[in-house]
Amino acid sequence: MTENPLRIAIIIGSTRAGRFGPTVGSWFADEAARREDMVVDIVDVADALPPSAFGTAVSDGFADVTASLQAADAYVVVTCEYNHSFPGTLKNLIDTHFSEWRAKPVGFVSYGGLAGGLRSVEHLRGVFAELHAVTVRDTVSFHAPWNWFGEDGTPQDAEGAGAAAKGMLDQLSWWGNALREARAVRPYGS
Ligand SMILES: Cc1cc2nc3c(=O)[nH]c(=O)nc-3n(C[C@H](O)[C@H](O)[C@H](O)COP(=O)(O)O)c2cc1C
Repeated sequence: MTENPLRIAIIIGSTRAGRFGPTVGSWFADEAARREDMVVDIVDVADALPPSAFGTAVSDGFADVTASLQAADAYVVVTCEYNHSFPGTLKNLIDTHFSEWRAKPVGFVSYGGLAGGLRSVEHLRGVFAELHAVTVRDTVSFHAPWNWFGEDGTPQDAEGAGAAAKGMLDQLSWWGNALREARAVRPYGS
């Protein structure tokens, strides 16, 4: 492990019963955890459901999730696609936080039907720009992942998928280190 590894929060965005999100998210978390330059924390939106985006009664799970988001140097959002965009539960999590996202990078792992969740990613880029976050270029994307992932939770083309994960994580690492160093020298927005 490198001396000061980046803390990566991997956010699993779907919450419905029988969701595929944890399969994709766990595979990706294993890919990230193998690296020497990162430590990984999984944030499940299902643990952080307030009654509405601006509701007042929040659960203990929500507070834990907020602490994980605060501690992170960088994020990876694992998102599916519902009706050409990302889940409302994920939007809720994003909207109920603000300073956590500022001047930090966000990468994406997407999955869905034919479009592989890529429309969700493009919508999320605009949302995160509003929150002063930087989104990295490369996305790891799976169309119809239920045809790709085996019982053991790994995709059939493990080498190709692993290479895609590495490419995106390399970009996230560059931005994560650059922005962490910059925030230490000059607090963002002041
Ligand atoms: C309500 C609903 C809407 C969906 N809309 C789309 C869509 O617009 N495009 C697409 O590619 N897949 C769509 N899908 C397929 C989902 O992306 C796919 O089922 C995925 O596994 C959902 O993520 P989850 O299993 O983690 O909930 C939709 C699925 C549901 C349940």
